[in-house]
Amino acid sequence: MRAKLVVGNWKMNGGLRANAALLAALTAEWNPAADRPIAVCVPFPYLGQAQAALTGTPIAWGAQNVSEHASGAHTGEVAASMLVDFGCRYALVGHSERRQFYGDTDAGVAAKAAALLAAGVTPIVCVGETLAEREAGTTEAVVLRQLDAVLAVVAAQAAQLVVAYEPVWAIGTGRTASSEQAQAVHATLRARLAAAGAADIPLLYGGSVKADNAAALFAMPDIDGGLIGGASLKAGEFLAIARA
Ligand code: PGA
Repeated sequence: MRAKLVVGNWKMNGGLRANAALLAALTAEWNPAADRPIAVCVPFPYLGQAQAALTGTPIAWGAQNVSEHASGAHTGEVAASMLVDFGCRYALVGHSERRQFYGDTDAGVAAKAAALLAAGVTPIVCVGETLAEREAGTTEAVVLRQLDAVLAVVAAQAAQLVVAYEPVWAIGTGRTASSEQAQAVHATLRARLAAAGAADIPLLYGGSVKADNAAALFAMPDIDGGLIGGASLKAGEFLAIARA
């Protein structure tokens, strides 16, 4: 039985007041008996707030990035051990916004995943193709290249990863991959993970997931949950997805 998981990616949104309301609504309304397990990945400055609000609840929290280095002269960076200090269970690595705008490379993403695993934090490894890559017919090659770069470095711990497939053209655009398009890529990723001894890790879909399309996506055999951006900022919408 594979683990289900719905993760909120707040991106660079929030503030102390709004976060407090959102976290309070999640803790009050999320029903562990009926809803999928949820987690929120918040901006670094709010990790302490998430920890204070969620400690003792079954809702997990995490970060959106991490340094590949353990400590030292890396101004502006945050180490995996610091995430551990704030109780993080997860951290995103290789989100497409970081790959596109902040220079994250396949090798860098792999190093970040390794740093997280060494600290005991679960990496949520994001992979996905751009629209140009999809139209060129290279979707599978791109996502496998991105995944293989990580597997090459953390092979022995592949079963401890979470992987999220997020087609870049579907992120924040209102344009979702159809359930069949997403399933096709998930099946490819699942086969590669199975070959690496990690057949049963949660494989999430992300990109304009909303309450009204989540059920169809989550009904697919290889989609175990979602990585939710915009819709994770509203408790009702996020919980409706966790319930879908
Ligand atoms: P979105 O973002 O749900 O707003 O499309 C998903 C993500 O980037 O993780």
